[in-house]
Amino acid sequence: MRNADPRSRASSPRCEGAHPRAHPPAQPDRGKTPDDRGFPSSKRSRIRRAGPVALIAAAALAVSPAPILAQPTAAPYTTVAPSPDGTGKVFAGREIARVMSWHGAAWLERPERAREERPDLVLEALALAPGMKVADVGAGTGYYSWRIAERVGEGGRVYAVEVQPQMLDYLGRLTAGRGVKNVEPILGTPSDPKLAPGSVDVALMVDVYHELEFPYEMLARIAEALKPGGRLVFVEYRGEDPSVPIKPLHKMTEAQVRKEAEMHPLAWERTITTLPWQHVIVFRKSGG
Ligand SMILES: C[S@@+](CC[C@H](N)C(=O)[O-])C[C@H]1O[C@@H](n2cnc3c(N)ncnc32)[C@H](O)[C@@H]1O
Repeated sequence: MRNADPRSRASSPRCEGAHPRAHPPAQPDRGKTPDDRGFPSSKRSRIRRAGPVALIAAAALAVSPAPILAQPTAAPYTTVAPSPDGTGKVFAGREIARVMSWHGAAWLERPERAREERPDLVLEALALAPGMKVADVGAGTGYYSWRIAERVGEGGRVYAVEVQPQMLDYLGRLTAGRGVKNVEPILGTPSDPKLAPGSVDVALMVDVYHELEFPYEMLARIAEALKPGGRLVFVEYRGEDPSVPIKPLHKMTEAQVRKEAEMHPLAWERTITTLPWQHVIVFRKSGG
């Protein structure tokens, strides 16, 4: 499999060999199975033959490419020995996961995703209306951005925020190919989505929050960017459910999301549990 998320270790029969966050097949097909960093093994052996310089270059490309910037922080972060899929950085009692590389972008566009994630139900939960301004934070390839853009219409706007320029390139090609004109790409930083204060009706993070390098700062900026009464919606794989075939650091419990969101002026409104593997957790900006 090519273009897999570098964090794959799936074993569920539902997603064997295909889902980057599940456990590896018992007897992997070495010719097709990606290594830990997303390279098919045939490519790996070419790299080995190419010698140490190529190895260093390949490692630089393959390791999480999101910018890791040392930035001042008000939030209490601590460190632990990194777990295989983690950063070793701990916030509010959980280890932050590694950022999904743009090398895995094709996984975000996999055809079976509609069945596994039911984006139709996610969009329904967002209760969008024409003219709304929506931030898709950690937009990736824009899997949700263009779908939201269609619903908010020409008078609305989608701010597609990313830290990986390669993801924004991908997103730009896909939205242009669909003739979508109301998606605005924004290159944020790991701690700042670069959204104007009071400008957004709904902010959405699908499968993003658990891997934010600066979750406290990002939520503070997102809360500022919401209009009074605006909503912040998290979509995360359900951490409470062991049957969800996703690696633990890429799941979150509702309690953990609430604990972290409620450090900010955000009031929990409801949690939707009708998706196959994820929950949709909705907060409203307090005081709005
Ligand atoms: C697993 S992907 C999900 C992409 C998209 N939301 C989807 O569901 O298809 C997570 C994305 O979040 C992005 N990301 C991580 N930290 C970010 C940050 N601080 N600001 C914006 N994007 C971020 C990563 O670059 C990656 O593309």
